[in-house]
Amino acid sequence: MDGVPTPLRCFNEYNSAEMLVDDGVETVTSVEQKKVERSIKEVVSVYKQMHSLPQPTLLREQHYQYLKKGLRHLSDAYECLDASRPWLCFWILHSLELLEEPIPAAVASDVCQFLSRCQSPRGGFSGGPGQHAHLAPTYAAVNALCIIGTEESYNIIDRKKLLDFLLSVKQPNGSFVMHVGGEVDVRSAYCAASVATLTNILTPKLFEDTATWILSCQNWEGGLSGVPGLEAHGGYTFCGTAALVILGKEHMLDLKALLRWVVSRQMRFEGGFQGRSNKLVDGCYSFWQAGLLPLLHRALFKEGESELSRQRWMFEQQALQEYILLCCQNPGGGLVDKPGKSRDFYHTCYCLSGLSIAQHFGNMDLHHEMILGEEENRLAPTHPVYNICPEKVSKALQHFHRLPLPDDSRQPGPPAPDHLQS
Ligand code: FPP
Ligand code: ZN
Repeated sequence: MDGVPTPLRCFNEYNSAEMLVDDGVETVTSVEQKKVERSIKEVVSVYKQMHSLPQPTLLREQHYQYLKKGLRHLSDAYECLDASRPWLCFWILHSLELLEEPIPAAVASDVCQFLSRCQSPRGGFSGGPGQHAHLAPTYAAVNALCIIGTEESYNIIDRKKLLDFLLSVKQPNGSFVMHVGGEVDVRSAYCAASVATLTNILTPKLFEDTATWILSCQNWEGGLSGVPGLEAHGGYTFCGTAALVILGKEHMLDLKALLRWVVSRQMRFEGGFQGRSNKLVDGCYSFWQAGLLPLLHRALFKEGESELSRQRWMFEQQALQEYILLCCQNPGGGLVDKPGKSRDFYHTCYCLSGLSIAQHFGNMDLHHEMILGEEENRLAPTHPVYNICPEKVSKALQHFHRLPLPDDSRQPGPPAPDHLQS
């Protein structure tokens, strides 16, 4: 640990030379990009006027109050997330663990009971009680239960049925549909691999051909798309890469092309990341994109690329912290995509997760920190594969590895409709 607070990246690095030059050709994209750059310039200039010491502060207490309230009460604005309720549990609980705020036992137990009502009688979790099981809320529910990390939370997961559910969404070409009769994309492979490892139900048959399918999503840009042949995107690139790490096949990616793609997604003026080429900065990519760097760092190190992997995480960690702390904090608590946007629990979770990634870096045994601002800005580290705190990963693995592997003799589910096959 370095222990010395890192001074702010000079504000004059937010200089006009880094702003977009459109060579006199305006497009919808260039106009939007310039608008965002102007809004960031304004935020920084107001900040400089109000603070003599340029040390941006994490608004811990405000975020804590916002999150605590969200666990008990959600405004009408969340009605559209009625099919994503386990996600809300995960986003809030993970944000709280990053802030090192304990979850009171009674609240934890209520969350467990709620998630148990989201578990489908046929295995897996759905977006809300009485809905159909889906891989995304299944991932969120398992992560939330592992964050709680009690006997009560672990015992809620019906592992045998969870394996049945995963087998029911597995496709003959190695991919997974998100739900029975649903769409294929690389998120599903990650959700399945993540829950299967954490709960110790990963069988070789379950992931037969999955790595080959994920590898076919890496395109000429270097990143991964949702399905083979589309545009590379940070969300899908994270999912595909993390799934390959779980399956021990990440070395089969073109790691250098992926590295080039992801580092090019950090915006030169804003300091945050965009999700795909020529799009706008967004706080949530602080995790989806920057979270790839620890995965790549480790993969390159294993490949003997010691020169590359010596370069810490290989992105501008300070610039990212500045973007999150200066441009993504709502003064009343909660974090946002970019200045002018409303706060929500998704952006709160992924801005904080990205901030944690940017603060902590390590090379195998070495663990260093680079905290922008005061020590109070320090978040707990997050596990770059599962995005829950590393102790919670170890505790879950230890718990579930004492239990026997359920039988996987059930046949994989029916193929996806033709247009969804790669
Ligand atoms: C583009 O949105 C977003 C996507 C195409 C999907 C992103 C995928 C994730 C964030 C990963 C989800 C992960 C799990 C585990 C389920 P947009 O066009 O609004 O945004 P953009 O302009 O930034 O590309
Ligand atoms: Zn976003």
